[in-house]
Amino acid sequence: MTAVNRYATSWESFWGSTTGTAGEVFWDADPIHASRQDLALFRDYFNPRLPLIDLGCGNGTQTRFLANHFTVVIGTEIAPAAVELATTTNGAANITYRLFDVLRPDDAQRLHDKIGDANLYIRAVLHQLSPADQATAVQSIERLLGATGTLYFIELSSAAEPYFARLIQQYGPPPGLARVFQHQITPGMLRENAINSLFPPERFAILGTGPSQIRTVHTLPTGDVVEVPAFYAILRRQ
Ligand SMILES: C[S@@+](CC[C@H](N)C(=O)[O-])C[C@H]1O[C@@H](n2cnc3c(N)ncnc32)[C@H](O)[C@@H]1O
Repeated sequence: MTAVNRYATSWESFWGSTTGTAGEVFWDADPIHASRQDLALFRDYFNPRLPLIDLGCGNGTQTRFLANHFTVVIGTEIAPAAVELATTTNGAANITYRLFDVLRPDDAQRLHDKIGDANLYIRAVLHQLSPADQATAVQSIERLLGATGTLYFIELSSAAEPYFARLIQQYGPPPGLARVFQHQITPGMLRENAINSLFPPERFAILGTGPSQIRTVHTLPTGDVVEVPAFYAILRRQ
């Protein structure tokens, strides 16, 4: 089975069995605590006349929030079940959801030929790709951005691994995280220091980067909501 099929199969299985029960989608935080914090960071860099692609949009929770702030929004997903879920639960007149595998740069080129340069919002997608697949994803990203689009991503950082280890040791695995493993999804990370090799300076300009958190839907016995160490970056093509 190729790597591409591995992602498609496990994510289709994950989204196809999602019922809407509270807590089952670990990262599905209210946008007030998720994409709103991101928007404050990237808003001034995004040309509002370009379409915004929420790449790997999942069930569309963050996509719908973003559609309140941008005129044309496209949510893209590898899993047909996610496209269906997003369409039925997070539809809006200015959002189109569509199938798209970020590991197919030719498809990215075809989408760019159709819609032109786009801004990209990517939350918690790149970290779960293998390092080789992250490099392929960057080829797609490059094509989608074109000359004028801007990329914002937020991904788990290297501090996420020890954070999860401590969390599981102290409280056991959160049910939402256990569900990820049940579907053979391999959580990974994007090391902060990999950014320059993944987005080489001769091809990309880094406009901003810094530490952040990915809010989850899991509340600890202490009353704290789990927020996994992450980092963000804002980039444009050179
Ligand atoms: C952790 S979820 C994050 C979903 C969404 N961005 C959010 O923050 O709610 C990762 C998403 O990436 C999607 N995905 C995984 N591999 C992909 C690929 N190769 N191309 C496009 N989407 C992919 C999955 O189906 C999943 O919905």
